[in-house]
Amino acid sequence: GLKVATIGGGSSYTPELIEGFIKRYDEFPLTELWLVDIEEGKEKLEIVGNLAKRMIEKAELPIDVHLTLDREEALKDADFVTTQFRVGLLEARAKDERIPLKYNVLGQETNGPGGLFKGLRTVPVIVDICNDMERLCPDAWLINFTNPAGMVTEAVLRYTNIDKVVGLCNVPIGIEMGIAKLLDVDASRIHIDFAGLNHMVYGLDVYLDGESVKDRVIELLSDPENTSFVKNIDGIGWEPEFIRALDALTCPYHNYYYKSQDMLEKTKKEAEEKGTRAEVVLELEKELFELYKDPDLNIKPPQLEERGGAYYSDAAVRLITSIYNDKRDIQPVNTRNNGAIASIPNDSAVEISSVITKDGPKPLAIGDLPVAVRGLVQQIKSFERIGAEAAVNGDYDKAVLALTINPLTPSDSVAKAIIDEMMEAHKTHLPQF
Ligand code: NAD
Ligand code: G6P
Ligand code: MN
Ligand code: MN
Repeated sequence: GLKVATIGGGSSYTPELIEGFIKRYDEFPLTELWLVDIEEGKEKLEIVGNLAKRMIEKAELPIDVHLTLDREEALKDADFVTTQFRVGLLEARAKDERIPLKYNVLGQETNGPGGLFKGLRTVPVIVDICNDMERLCPDAWLINFTNPAGMVTEAVLRYTNIDKVVGLCNVPIGIEMGIAKLLDVDASRIHIDFAGLNHMVYGLDVYLDGESVKDRVIELLSDPENTSFVKNIDGIGWEPEFIRALDALTCPYHNYYYKSQDMLEKTKKEAEEKGTRAEVVLELEKELFELYKDPDLNIKPPQLEERGGAYYSDAAVRLITSIYNDKRDIQPVNTRNNGAIASIPNDSAVEISSVITKDGPKPLAIGDLPVAVRGLVQQIKSFERIGAEAAVNGDYDKAVLALTINPLTPSDSVAKAIIDEMMEAHKTHLPQF
């Protein structure tokens, strides 16, 4: 049989994943799916787990869905482990997004102080999961969606004995789909060469039916309508001179770095007017779970597409299917650099187009990143590495260092002040400090 364990099974994204497994059942004949959660998520697990069962029943597939709070039972002999958990749930995210704003610093889930603190809460849990995997399913692949996916993948590669890990984000696939839409062509005809880091990834070239259309696409990126490839970020639109000279496709998260002031003001304004993104998502989540409770519902409801991670299951299940079948197709994933990008350490995680084999992703070497983007990517990599180190060792000084070198923080003193307030606010989820 084929066994998958999904940690954070109570996530509202679970119907996405189920849809993915149903669609690709022919290539990946899953027999057991174990959805794991914790006491705090028990009710969500129950509701979304029952919808998962109805979806599979409707598809008439012989997949057994198990709901459990016992992680060990779920991991035992698993072939793939996927993670989609959120330590402290959305309440913790709301703090990550609100507290930095008081200091005039961006409050965001995966960037700046919010990204650091999500990492500090999450890394010890993923390390624990990896230690369990070593005992219970040493041959399994770990497919991590849990944010901050870059820092989390970095921590797994450098601080655990699990080497079979792939970090995954829906941003690259979102950009490909978005560009296909802009060019009014089927997404299968678009290919992008991706390289960089999670939420800091660039498209170095973009092809339509194998011919580069980079210049055309770059023109389109000056229009604000065309830069928001995920639901959680409204881009502003690039100055045409800037994006032409950059000569690469940006991702939505670049707005926070190349338009820092505008995005800070915008984030503050939105927090005042309608709440932070976590607060908006809390409402959306309530609505989704009300829908999920309906015993007649047996498909993924379209409302789920209002979440930023829309379509991530496509990325996840196509990755799992390609590993399982040794497909050797090209997909953008977070994997060990191994020299693919010269200016990034070999043992660090990078997000890059890779050939997906049964032995995992083989990153396509690019030589080095263009000079124009190399510095920022290195700075973020240093932030991720030092942040992961701080998280693993409970090292307060390294946490201050990580946040100070992050380009979204103006000074060491501001970094320290934010860290002190956030350490206090999150202390129940930071046992290592
Ligand atoms: P959520 O708040 O619904 O949390 C998901 C579940 O995790 C909850 O049911 C919760 O109880 C559970 N959980 C918390 N701690 C746990 C633990 N120690 N063990 C097991 N389960 C635990 O979160 P969500 O909005 O569905 O997002 C889930 C995760 O996926 C987040 O980390 C989010 O950032 C990430 N995400 C990543 C991408 C990507 O591009 N990689 C896309 C979307 C979401
Ligand atoms: C994006 C990112 C994810 C992020 C999510 C937020 O697309 O790729 O890493 O977590 O969407 O979405 P949300 O709906 O939770 O704000
Ligand atoms: Mn290792
Ligand atoms: Mn992401």
